Amino acid sequence: MGVRLSMTRRIAFSSGLRFWLPQLGETENRARFGPLASPFNHGHNYLLEVNVSGEIHPTTGMILNIKIIDDLLQETVVARFDRKSINDQIPEFVARPPTLENLLLYFWGQFEQPIFPHVVQLESLLLTSTPLLHVKLERSQPAGIMTLTRQYEFAASHRLTAPGLSAEENLQLFGKCTNPAGHGHNYLLEVTVTGAPDEKTGMLVDLVEMDRIVNERVVDRYDHKHLNCDVPELQDSNPTSEIVAKAIFGELVGRLPAKLMKIRLHETARSSFEVTEADR
Ligand code: NI
Repeated sequence: MGVRLSMTRRIAFSSGLRFWLPQLGETENRARFGPLASPFNHGHNYLLEVNVSGEIHPTTGMILNIKIIDDLLQETVVARFDRKSINDQIPEFVARPPTLENLLLYFWGQFEQPIFPHVVQLESLLLTSTPLLHVKLERSQPAGIMTLTRQYEFAASHRLTAPGLSAEENLQLFGKCTNPAGHGHNYLLEVTVTGAPDEKTGMLVDLVEMDRIVNERVVDRYDHKHLNCDVPELQDSNPTSEIVAKAIFGELVGRLPAKLMKIRLHETARSSFEVTEADR
């Protein structure tokens, strides 16, 4: 039986950083990094997820001994970055903005070559800076292309009713979800864009602008609203999470400052719905 196996190992580190390059003057730093520019450090608790694939070793029963990958992560990530100021203590970032995107490219370069050739293959790296933001690089993507996922939330009420069905049939189909006065969810929305980071800013997307657009097009219009009544594109629809997710994708596609790859709408902790463009 042919199977493909991969393993994921996570490691945490905390670093200080700033968007302020020593080779640029104040005006240029402020022009380049906008509201993110500051000559003073801020900090993140980063989480790096390393995914590798390989064959099960006949003796150990493993793709790779976790101790080996941990030693490498310790040496390459923790010893160099943890409790350090990235701009001041990592030579590669003295003149290069330490954005999440640039850090991911750096780690990819560190791991791609050396590790365990002939044993495992590096499949993907995922780097998280806050619970609301992560970037991901996959082997299957063209070189330098990555994805960035940003999380938003809104609370809204809705009522499920299929047009043309009687009250009894709706009750049979949707159960308590067809309660006449509606019910609510705390929706969690993940928006994923894709592309290569800009040479100058080190950023794949202007996050301030992305937040502004997602808030304007979706969050501000959906939050604390009744989806059946208050949101024009959902008016007279049966706003299942599938239909809401599709409407959100329609609101965002072509409007963000980077290419929209997908959205994922979590209705509850147990169910989520993903929308991408078909036949790209
Ligand atoms: Ni519901």
